[in-house]
Amino acid sequence: MNLSIDQDRLTAEIDHLAQFSDAEAPAVTRVIFTPTDMKARAWIKARCEEAGLTIREDAVGNTFARWSGTDADAAVVGTGSHIDAIPNAGKYDGVVGVLGGLEAIRALHAAGFRPRHPIELLIFTSEEPTRFGIGCLGSRLLSGTLSPEAARKLRDNDGTTLEDARRQAGMKGRLEEVKLPRGYYKALVELHIEQGPLLEREGVSLGVVERIAAPASLRLTIEGAGGHAGAVLMPDRRDALCTAAELILALENTAKSTGAVDTVATVGICDVFPGAVNSIPARVRLSVDVRDTSLARRDSAMQAFETACRAIEAKRQVAIHSELLNADAPAESAPEVLAALRQACAKSGLPYLPMTSRAYHDSLFISRIAPVAMLFIPCHNGYSHRPDEYAAPEHIAKGTLVLAETLASLAG
Ligand code: GLV
Ligand code: MN
Ligand code: MN
Repeated sequence: MNLSIDQDRLTAEIDHLAQFSDAEAPAVTRVIFTPTDMKARAWIKARCEEAGLTIREDAVGNTFARWSGTDADAAVVGTGSHIDAIPNAGKYDGVVGVLGGLEAIRALHAAGFRPRHPIELLIFTSEEPTRFGIGCLGSRLLSGTLSPEAARKLRDNDGTTLEDARRQAGMKGRLEEVKLPRGYYKALVELHIEQGPLLEREGVSLGVVERIAAPASLRLTIEGAGGHAGAVLMPDRRDALCTAAELILALENTAKSTGAVDTVATVGICDVFPGAVNSIPARVRLSVDVRDTSLARRDSAMQAFETACRAIEAKRQVAIHSELLNADAPAESAPEVLAALRQACAKSGLPYLPMTSRAYHDSLFISRIAPVAMLFIPCHNGYSHRPDEYAAPEHIAKGTLVLAETLASLAG
């Protein structure tokens, strides 16, 4: 089989998709079920249909584009990723796995390959936690990791429920129908930018991902006492933002004190109420993101942070409510999918690095129900979740080529 990846078309499509954005270029912001997201989805679905794929959309908007195999009963070989982008992001995170997946399918088709197993490109809904506070919404529901009842309780910052948002976006059916039946997938492979610096540093174009680190997140609400910034004297204050400052540093200290560089912790959101120059902050909401390659160490870091929270709460005479949004176990890639990826690298004459993904991905959740592995390509300086995220066209093309070879060997 003579596989040829159309690098120019793929680059042009990545650039085109980046125009569907609520931020000024080069930044990309694409939040699920916004008009911008819906336009981007429609554009991709049209590209999939042009490629001869059949589209199915589930109740939460996960989009499956199918190339039927010669054996109608055979389990699916999947690939794909996400196209939602966090505020002020770049244009490659997730997109490379979706448009690269589509290009891999087109290359296989053009080379005359006919799969025995169906090959499906999957565009996951809301890999990013931006709108509903929890990442990997689509894959959590597909894998049964998140129950439909729990999903129905999710609301965005404006109070819109996931139920209303998905129906307004035209998604039909019940969330109960999203979960995939056992044995649906023979395998799933996700192509993604590394989002870290190792591949570039080592001068290697490909990373074969052997495991994905364990993510967890909390929402903290600090209730203090508001009042006049001039009139309330310092001994009488119960300032929610000063409390938040202590909590943020306590979290940083917790992550740094585990003795492992693999523990990372971030506060990315700090909402201050009422948010006036001359008003003492009465209430603050913080997002807390904690991750580690070791589940036990991640959990003990979270326990240590909880202890710190209670001490700060008592000292500052405020109330701190802590809501656990998710605490997921890490994932190990499946040996047979890893073998297919390594063989495809060898066949293409491309060296690879064995890697750990410190970012989470929908693959983390699909791994609970199917054999999964991921393929990484370098991104410049490891930049990701920022507008200057960049992956070179030749690296994207190499990743796409190896993805196509892998799909061929899994679906043949
Ligand atoms: C995914 O976007 C992550 O935060 O790891
Ligand atoms: Mn991301
Ligand atoms: Mn991603």
